[in-house]
Amino acid sequence: MDKYYITTPIYYPSGKFHIGTAYTTVVADTIKRYKTLRGYDTYLLTGADEHGQKIQTVAKDKGMEPQEYVDEMAKLAKELWAKMDIGYDDFIRTTDERHCKIVQAIFEKFLAQGDIYKGTYEGMYCVPCETYFTKTQLVDGKCPDCGREVKLMKEEAYFFNMKKYADRLLKLYEETDFITPEFRKTEMINNFIKPGLEDLCITRTSFDWGIKVNSDKDHVIYVWLDALTNYITALGYMTDDDTLFKKYWPADVQIIGKDIARFHLIYWPIFLMALDLPLPKKILVHNWIMMKDGKMSKSKGNVVYPELLIDRYGLDALRYFLLREMPVVQDGIFSPEEFVERFNFDLCNDLGNLLNRTVSMVNKYFDGIVPVYNGHKNEVDSELEEFTKTQLEKVENLIEKFEFANALQELWLLIARTNKYIDETTPWALEKNEETEKLQACMYHLIENLRKIGVALIPFMLETANNILRQIGINGENLKTWESIYNYELIPEGTKVIEKGEPLFMRLEVEKEVEYIKEGMKQ
Ligand code: ME8
Ligand code: MG
Repeated sequence: MDKYYITTPIYYPSGKFHIGTAYTTVVADTIKRYKTLRGYDTYLLTGADEHGQKIQTVAKDKGMEPQEYVDEMAKLAKELWAKMDIGYDDFIRTTDERHCKIVQAIFEKFLAQGDIYKGTYEGMYCVPCETYFTKTQLVDGKCPDCGREVKLMKEEAYFFNMKKYADRLLKLYEETDFITPEFRKTEMINNFIKPGLEDLCITRTSFDWGIKVNSDKDHVIYVWLDALTNYITALGYMTDDDTLFKKYWPADVQIIGKDIARFHLIYWPIFLMALDLPLPKKILVHNWIMMKDGKMSKSKGNVVYPELLIDRYGLDALRYFLLREMPVVQDGIFSPEEFVERFNFDLCNDLGNLLNRTVSMVNKYFDGIVPVYNGHKNEVDSELEEFTKTQLEKVENLIEKFEFANALQELWLLIARTNKYIDETTPWALEKNEETEKLQACMYHLIENLRKIGVALIPFMLETANNILRQIGINGENLKTWESIYNYELIPEGTKVIEKGEPLFMRLEVEKEVEYIKEGMKQ
């Protein structure tokens, strides 16, 4: 069985997670579910990035010890992922002993190899971003990432000699396509590599909430060396039991947001080169969920938390929106109006009605028993089969390319086409005219298409997928495999739909719900 290792970033537990943070994780989970369905032995890693000055400050403001604070936050993170049905295999915390020990060992290895040297750091530092910038990188004298004030800081520190690896990195960029999308590569080359790669400062003495350097206890290892290595320490790299590491490394896809591209596209491959380890096969850089008035921020009162939407509309409504509206490599926009509209049009009308109409017709015309595939294909049936096959292939190809918004769009074209098939075949007239064979073929095709749509939805919206399959009486595991969606002749004789269809989604009152979401965003 081929393996497939997926990682999310490890999140800063500095506050509650909004739908932006949830987005990365939903994408990772979708990939995991898809690959599992395709027969891979998958492993999904997520976790928490718990060290650093900012966490120390936040904890202090709350009157808590940092450890106490991050324990509490890790619990909340796990609760959220449970609520979002994220199928992660491991949750690594950078305060885990298994992680700290190895980070210390990696540091000493780099030191011994001459990759690390001691010097003095002086630079413009942005505390919230925990990043030093050179003067030229600043925008109007402020942090280029968050726009806040930076301050001049100077301290004795250890540096990682990035320059030493600059050529190898460029060569890697030229020879492989481990970066998706391609334009991020160009961005890295032009903004960071060509101007001359700067050595990375990897320790601090200005705070102590971090992993201590074994050979120099005044220093704590600064967040990025600590954070990035989580992807291998979680697998037991450099320990007595490195079975997981041997099995799963290198990662097949590492998912990150655009703000942390530099760290994952430059420093991470260089650290791996220094460790003489294989590089991840793919780093997928996604864009951001924006609001109509720009970034989500507490001060603007436009932050959307996943719980707000899940508690009222269900998890799948949120997952659908995130995956359908966010084109991965472009920014997407969240608006309450759009959310409610998609819910009503796509989920209630298109998908929900297709299921409902079909289930009630099979009940009405055939006492709930799905007619057997009688092979009597009419022209409309053949056309539908043809179209369905093409759409499903498109969906598959787009998922393989991680283009989920496009994949869902194509899937919804199939849903629309299947609804149209009902209008074309007019089952009510077939019944009246006693054209039984045609009516049988029609019901069979509707059930088959719903089965295919249900299976294709498994990676995206598991609950809805299972609900559809249950309502149309599909039980056999062989009818739920990805490969089975290309086959029209699988539904066994005697398959029975449920007696009374249950709506998948209840239509929303637009104004009321838009208002509800807007209110929730202000909390
Ligand atoms: O950066 N839309 O953690 P983090 C989409 N600890 N994605 C968003 C977003 C938005 N509006 N806002 C944030 C860190 N994200 C480090 C990572 S990994 C070794 C260390 C994404 O909690 C963001 O792009 O600040 C990033 O991928 C993730 O949330 C975590 O951000
Ligand atoms: Mg961040």
